[in-house]
Amino acid sequence: MPGTLQSIKYENGKLEILNQLLLPSKSEYVAITGVEEGWQAIHSMKVRGAPAIAMVGCLSLAVELHNEEQHDKKVLRQEIEGKLNYLVSARPTAVNMKIAAEELIALANQLSKDETVSSEQMKEKFLGQIEAMLAKDLEDNMAIGKFGAKAIIGTVKDTKNVRIVTHCNTGSLATAGYGTALGVIRSLHAEKRLEHVYCTETRPYNQGARLTAYELVHERIPATLICDSMVAALMRARTITAVVVGADRVVANGDTANKIGTYQIAVIARHHCVPFYVAATLTSIDFNIPSGEHIVIEERPECEMTCIGDQRIAASGISVWNPAFDVTPAELITGIITEKGIFAPSEIINLKPEGNGPEFC
Ligand code: MRU
Repeated sequence: MPGTLQSIKYENGKLEILNQLLLPSKSEYVAITGVEEGWQAIHSMKVRGAPAIAMVGCLSLAVELHNEEQHDKKVLRQEIEGKLNYLVSARPTAVNMKIAAEELIALANQLSKDETVSSEQMKEKFLGQIEAMLAKDLEDNMAIGKFGAKAIIGTVKDTKNVRIVTHCNTGSLATAGYGTALGVIRSLHAEKRLEHVYCTETRPYNQGARLTAYELVHERIPATLICDSMVAALMRARTITAVVVGADRVVANGDTANKIGTYQIAVIARHHCVPFYVAATLTSIDFNIPSGEHIVIEERPECEMTCIGDQRIAASGISVWNPAFDVTPAELITGIITEKGIFAPSEIINLKPEGNGPEFC
C-alpha cells in the first residue's frame, strides 16, 4: 500500500519491525533475527495488534529457518512445532498467533510425511506459506474496508456523510497494511463519505492517542482525539453514525475480546441506538471457545497504569487491576465485518471450516 505506514518489513529471510514503543515521537525499525527476539518484541509490545503479532511471530521463525540447514524432516517438524508453540505463549488473548501456529504445524506434519518432498523442499514450501500471510492479510483488510463502508453508508440517508467512533489501534500498524476497523474508516474516507472520526485515547497504554491518531494524521483523515470517558458525552452532543472496533478474539457465539474499554463503548452505543460493528479477519475467530467467559484475559504490569513514561502519576501504595482486554457480549454487536461479508454474531458459527474444533450444543 503506497503511502501507508508499514509496521513489518520482510524480504529474503530479513525481518524488521517498526518499534511501536517509540511512536509517535520516533520512527525506528529494529531487526528481528530469530524466534527469541520475535517473542520478546511481541511480549514487550514493540509490535501489537492481533494480526501483526501473528505475522511477526511466524516471520521470526521464517528468519531462523531461512538461515538454517536441516537435512532431517522429522527434526525440522519438531523444531517448527516447538518454536511456534513458544511464540503463542508471548501474549494470551489475541488468537491470531495460535491459529497461524496450528495451521503451520499441520502443514509441517503433512510435509514431513510426504515422501515425494525433500527436506529442502519442505523448508521452501513452509517459508512460502508464511510469506503468503502478509499478502493475504492485506487483501482481507481491503475486503473488510469495502464491506464495512458499504454497510455503514447504507444506514445513512441520501448523501449525508458519516461520523465514526473507534477504539484502540486497528490500522496499518496492527496489520499487514490498510487495517480492519481503520480499514473501514479508510474506505469511507476514500469514497468521500467520511465526515469525521473520533478516536479514543485508549487508556492505559494509549494505543489510540499514540498509534491511531498518528495514522489518522499521516493519512490526513479528519479526526479528533477523545478520552475514553468522553464517548457517552460525545454521543449525546453529536450524531454518531456507527462505532467500529477491531478484535483480538471472536468466539463461537460472537462474543468478542478487544482492547479494554471496548465493552463500555458498546454499552454506551446501545443506549444511544448507535450501531456497533466489530471488524476482523477470519484469522481472529476462535471456533474452539463457545463463549466469552472462557477467553483468557491478559493482565499487564501495574506501571502501565500508574506511570506515564518514567513519571508516576498514581498515589503510591494504591493497588491496581490492569486487564488489557475485555469481552463485549454478542448481543451488543450489530455486525461482524469480515473479508467474507458482514455477519450477525449468531451467524459466526456458520463460518467454521469443516473439522475445526468441537461442536457446541
Ligand atoms: O494490546 P494490543 O495493543 O496488542 O491490543 C490491540 C487491540 O486490542 C486491537 O484493537 C486488536 O488487536 C485489533 S488489531 C486489528
